[in-house]
Amino acid sequence: MADAEVLEELSRRNEEAQAGGGEARIAKRHAKGLLTARERMDQLFDAGSFVEIDKLRVHRCTDFGMDESHTPGDGVVTGYGTVEGRTVFAFAQDFTVLGGSLSHTVAEKICKINEMALKAGAPVIGLNDSGGARIQEGVESLGGYADIFCANTLASGVIPQISGVLGPCAGGATYSPALTDFILMVDKTSYMFITGPEVIKSVTREEVTQEDLGGGATHNSRSGVAHFLAPDDAGCIAMIRKLLSYLPLNNMEDPPVVDTGDALERLTPELNSVVPDNPNQPYDMNEIINATVDQGSFFEVHQHFARNAIVGFSRIGGKSVGIVANQPNHLAGCIDVAASNKIARFIRFCDCFNIPIVTFEDTPGYLPGTAQEWGGIIRHGAKIVYAYAEATVPKITIITRKAYGGAYCVMGSKHIRTDVNLAYPGAEIAVMGADGAVNIIFRNEIKAADDPESTRKDIVADYRKRFANPFRAAELGYIDGVISPAETRVRIAQALAMLANKRDSNPQKKHGNIPL
Ligand code: HXC
Repeated sequence: MADAEVLEELSRRNEEAQAGGGEARIAKRHAKGLLTARERMDQLFDAGSFVEIDKLRVHRCTDFGMDESHTPGDGVVTGYGTVEGRTVFAFAQDFTVLGGSLSHTVAEKICKINEMALKAGAPVIGLNDSGGARIQEGVESLGGYADIFCANTLASGVIPQISGVLGPCAGGATYSPALTDFILMVDKTSYMFITGPEVIKSVTREEVTQEDLGGGATHNSRSGVAHFLAPDDAGCIAMIRKLLSYLPLNNMEDPPVVDTGDALERLTPELNSVVPDNPNQPYDMNEIINATVDQGSFFEVHQHFARNAIVGFSRIGGKSVGIVANQPNHLAGCIDVAASNKIARFIRFCDCFNIPIVTFEDTPGYLPGTAQEWGGIIRHGAKIVYAYAEATVPKITIITRKAYGGAYCVMGSKHIRTDVNLAYPGAEIAVMGADGAVNIIFRNEIKAADDPESTRKDIVADYRKRFANPFRAAELGYIDGVISPAETRVRIAQALAMLANKRDSNPQKKHGNIPL
């Protein structure tokens, strides 16, 4: 039996670790509306479930007076617990301890829970808030970062990895979140950049604020580095818990099933009037998504980035699905470089983690312009094809209106291994829009006509009647059926049920070479 003295020492050591960088530093954070690392962990995990690991571990640095400074636990809190009863691992960088800077010990603690999570088949949540490399440790700290990057890479596709950025995250430190599946940032109190405003000013003379350069709004809307924007620490952690609710714990599991109380037989007659008759009139694809999925279950990813595309998690019959869609309300639903990256990355995540993909298509094609061509739309656009074609999860595509040209091929067409393809009666599936097509193939006839404009109009009307509809594709079996919008939910639910035991595979290879 441990004697009283040892128990007292244990209690003292635990209290010391619990105090992190001390009361004054904790008060400073609270004054800024920020939570401490331990408070964040408490909010992330189910009450009382968190088990801390390496609470007493210390750094080994002796340079620059560091032998005088030993905080048990060092700059990170690590461990595991449950979220909605399921095992999850997490680390939270503790800014009160030397600015949450990364010592070699901190890196070892993070790598340790990564390794444990891989063995246990459970996700890892990283709550990042750090001044970067522990300056006093030099290259030892850099080695620690690289060890974490390696662990992130090897765990990719095996267990979900989610990064909350709740404070500074700069320089090479950004690459750990960047290697994980999702990044959530807190508005106004978090930032990510490779080089900060001062370095930028001295090198390029550009002047930019920290917030404009790498704040949560910037990375959610401009760069697409972040996937979610939270109003504060608590909101960010609540979002992480919600995100986890759609995901399996690892790549060998199916996602959890939730009782949503929404009948699979529910018809969606309200969708009969969503798509306008005028092909040039926009509408909000969210209306179709929200009416189709289990009520209130749509959780959008990358909501503020590439808004001409929509991606996110949802449930149908309580089971997780990944939704991919064009958004006619923004840039007419064109596909551009940003949308290509957004769509392709989301599809690949769903495929890694056994989440079926439901696609709603209404796109006039790729966005024209030098900015797109020089920005590599060929390479980026190809990622969408690659992602759909290699995905072996159940795939269902509904063409709600336009499916033109290359966009028809890439947005989950039958030809790239989609299982069930359906279209609304007003769908337009053709090489290009009627006006463009007629101007090319009937140029001479129109020029020679007595009344060129009226002739052009007649030919356009004839082309539209013959080709701008779903029936040619249905005759060829390129789509499996033409459905009334009122049947959208029912038909998708039937397809998902039919595909519940789908087994498909790709040729054996080390890995493919997606056009990055
Ligand atoms: C050691 C650090 C530290 C660091 C902060 N601290 N950053 N200690 N290494 N990198 C300590 C401070 O000395 C201070 O200690 C405490 O943390 C809080 O820092 P403050 O400056 O008081 O906080 P604040 O004003 O909020 O400013 C936060 C900050 C700033 C913007 C992050 O601390 C800062 O600029 N830090 C240095 C950032 C940096 O250059 N890091 C290295 C980048 S290179 P006390 O005892 O006073 O509480 C890098 C390479 C990674 O990271 C490469 C990976 C491949």
